[in-house]
Formats: sequence, C-alpha cells, structure tokens
Amino acid sequence: MSSRVSIVTGATGKIGRVVAEEVARQGKHLIIACRSLAKSKVLLGELKSAYPHSTIESIMLDLADKRSINKFAEIIEQKCYIVNELVCNAGVLCQYESQNKEDVDMSMAVNYLGNVRLIERLQRSLAHDAKILNMVSSIRWGTISGDPFHPEDKFNRFRRYASSKLALYAYTQHLARKYDNSSISVYAVDPGIVNTVMITKGKWFESIAEVFLSPFVRTPEKGAETALYLLSNRPQTTGMVYHDCKIEQFSADIYTREEWSQLWDNTQKYLTENI
Ligand SMILES: NC(=O)c1ccc[n+]([C@@H]2O[C@H](COP(=O)([O-])OP(=O)(O)OC[C@H]3O[C@@H](n4cnc5c(N)ncnc54)[C@H](OP(=O)(O)O)[C@@H]3O)[C@@H](O)[C@H]2O)c1
Repeated sequence: MSSRVSIVTGATGKIGRVVAEEVARQGKHLIIACRSLAKSKVLLGELKSAYPHSTIESIMLDLADKRSINKFAEIIEQKCYIVNELVCNAGVLCQYESQNKEDVDMSMAVNYLGNVRLIERLQRSLAHDAKILNMVSSIRWGTISGDPFHPEDKFNRFRRYASSKLALYAYTQHLARKYDNSSISVYAVDPGIVNTVMITKGKWFESIAEVFLSPFVRTPEKGAETALYLLSNRPQTTGMVYHDCKIEQFSADIYTREEWSQLWDNTQKYLTENI
C-alpha cells in the first residue's frame, strides 16, 4: 500500500528542524532529506525519541549533486510513496565563490537548479492535492541575466544568493501556473531574517548585527511560522511569496517575463543535457 509522505529538505538546519518537528508531532509520515549522514542520524534519533508514535525516516539528498537528487527520487518511487507535502527548505548562502561538480555556481546549483531538479523528478510521485513550499529570500535584490549558471560578474555572496532565490521564486510562479487547474498548491515562503548558521557565519554579521540587526532577527520558531501556516491551511492564491502568514507584495517588474522565459529555456536545455 502506498503511503502519503511529507518531505522536509534541509531538516538539519534551524528552520527545517522546526518544520520537521511539527510535521512529526502531527503524526504525519515524515522524510527528512539531508546531505550530511552524521547530522541526519543524530536528528533522526532525536525526532524518533521525541515522537515515538510517528513514522520518520531519513533519505540522503545533496541538492548540489544531480546523482543524489536522482537517487532520492528513485527511492521515493521504489517505495511507492505519494508526496503529500514537499518543503523545499534547504538552501545555502555561499561565503566564497564555488561551483558544484557540473561547474555551476553553487548558489544557483543548490537554491535554484537543485530544487527545480528535485521537484521535476518528483512530479510523478506528487499527490493529486500536494503542497509544495519553496523557501525564498531577498528576491528584491536578485537579478536574472546572461548565463546565470556561470556568472562572470565579481563574486558578491548576497547578490548570488538573492539571484538564486529570485530564480526559485520565478520557478514557483511557473509551477503555480502549470497547476492552476489542479488541486496542487505551490507557494514561496520568506521566513524573514532568522538567527541561523546561514547568517551568523558571515564575519561582518556577528559584529554589526549585535548592535543594529538584533531587533529584527527572528528565532527559528518564528521563521518557520509561515511555512507551518501553509502546511495547515491552503490559501487560494498560489505562486506568491508568503511572509508572516500573508502574501508579500512586490512590484510587478521584480523580474520580467522575458528574463524568466529565457532562464526557463536555459534551465530546460540544461536539464535535458545533464540528466
Ligand atoms: N536565515 C535566514 O535569515 C533566512 C532568510 C530567508 C530565507 N532563508 C531560507 O530558509 C531556508 C532555511 O535556512 P536556515 O536559515 O534554516 O539555514 P541553515 O540553518 O543554514 O539550514 C540550511 C539547511 O540547508 C541544508 N543544505 C545546504 N546545502 C545543501 C545541499 N547542497 N543539499 C542539501 N541540503 C543542503 C543544510 O544542510 P547541512 O546541515 O548539512 O549544512 C541545512 O540543513 C534556506 O532556504 C534559506 O535560504 C533563511
């Protein structure tokens, strides 16, 4: 018999852990998708002892690695799991210029291409009324131009991060249009500035943030609130960014259809050539 599952990527991170805990607490069949075996073993043990009556398992997933994504999707298919909830929470803010094995800029590889590959690979396993949540951030500061997988501009970690998240937002809108006449709901989630490793490991942040940013920095629990709201509710408006459990308004020209359709063409071509 097939089982309906909830997948949380990046569950070893701060926000992901809060989401995973709540899913387990609600007794849903939880799959934590993690790239670190050591961290996932610890997390799995803690979740199982905290929620002994829930079904929780761990499957390895490195979003920077296409083989890992394909393997993950194969396992889901082999186990005949029906993906009820897919929380694409994993993300990276690269401190240094780096690329994955395919030579794609690491921010784009993980935050955009990895999530696109994962979601496209899982299409056949989605429940007829599945929910997909994509974690975005800073999309106002992103740009999509040229060859986004191999950018040639001087490395700026926030610009690369914001651009990869803008691309993920554009993909979220694409999915929402694709599923417009179905019961599948797709949302982008902006958790706000959250006190996690992602932002505290930047040296500049630790010194300046203590003074200026602290009042705005949220706990992981607060950061996870909107994702949990969307898992418990099904707002009709899909494809939009939700922040503080409401739609966040952006100017219409945050990305142009032309930029996005060029990115999507490049993405499809890239994925076809790099299965
Ligand atoms: N913190 C913020 O202020 C903020 C603001 C807006 C949006 N967000 C977004 O919220 C999400 C969660 O972030 P967080 O703040 O909770 O950060 P975090 O604590 O650093 O967690 C990031 C998670 O992503 C995982 N991850 C990183 N690279 C991966 C890869 N290649 N494959 C698979 N998993 C990978 C990490 O795994 P490891 O444990 O193995 O490193 C970790 O579990 C991210 O998408 C982030 O962009 C965060």
